[in-house]
Amino acid sequence: MTEINHRRADHPIHSIFLERWSPRAFTGDEISEKDLLALFEAARWAPSASNNQPWRFVYARRGTEHFASLLEILDEGNQRWAKKASAIVIILSKTHRLTSTGEMRPAYTHAFDTGAAWFALALQTRLAGFYAHAMAGIDRDKAMRVLGVPEHYRVEAAVAIGKLADPSTLPEDLREREKPSQRKPLGDFVFEGRFKAD
Ligand SMILES: Cc1cc2nc3c(=O)[nH]c(=O)nc-3n(C[C@H](O)[C@H](O)[C@H](O)COP(=O)(O)O)c2cc1C
Repeated sequence: MTEINHRRADHPIHSIFLERWSPRAFTGDEISEKDLLALFEAARWAPSASNNQPWRFVYARRGTEHFASLLEILDEGNQRWAKKASAIVIILSKTHRLTSTGEMRPAYTHAFDTGAAWFALALQTRLAGFYAHAMAGIDRDKAMRVLGVPEHYRVEAAVAIGKLADPSTLPEDLREREKPSQRKPLGDFVFEGRFKAD
């Protein structure tokens, strides 16, 4: 079976699923707007309930005035390594949708749909020669303020996008963790016919 990055798939899958991982060592290279927008193009084509497309992305490219303000939304532990990213992205979702009768109703699948869009972005990022590292370690209230987000939107996560650097460029305590992680076996989370709790 396919083995890449010391990750072995037990069933045949495309290599991209093993090639994508979340490094922290980034080179500090810049990314052009054209290259970055191509990554969001992949997210654009994600599926969503009723084709609502509730995902929203706010980006800052390294070398632009926005980079510092988006970087400051991240927890300090994430800023330590994400400061070398080529771009920082804040992912939001629209939590409500307008019904045909003009009411704002909670959109049950806003987070699920936005997760699909994030993963399309992550795979396209890897295919483009970059890596995407998601972060929940962010200050959501600060993000709402800094980005000027109104009600009916939720800040979901941030993503650092960059080119892979040597682990030796990381602070010492992060170097050891700088490797693709493993996964539970399929039998732990895929069940035929009936749910099995842990
Ligand atoms: C929603 C989400 C939040 C995450 N938050 C953080 C974070 O705050 N800091 C961090 O270093 N990594 C974060 N990660 C990265 C995960 O730890 C990583 O995806 C997981 O260990 C699997 O490893 P892999 O992506 O290298 O396959 C996050 C990933 C996801 C999907």
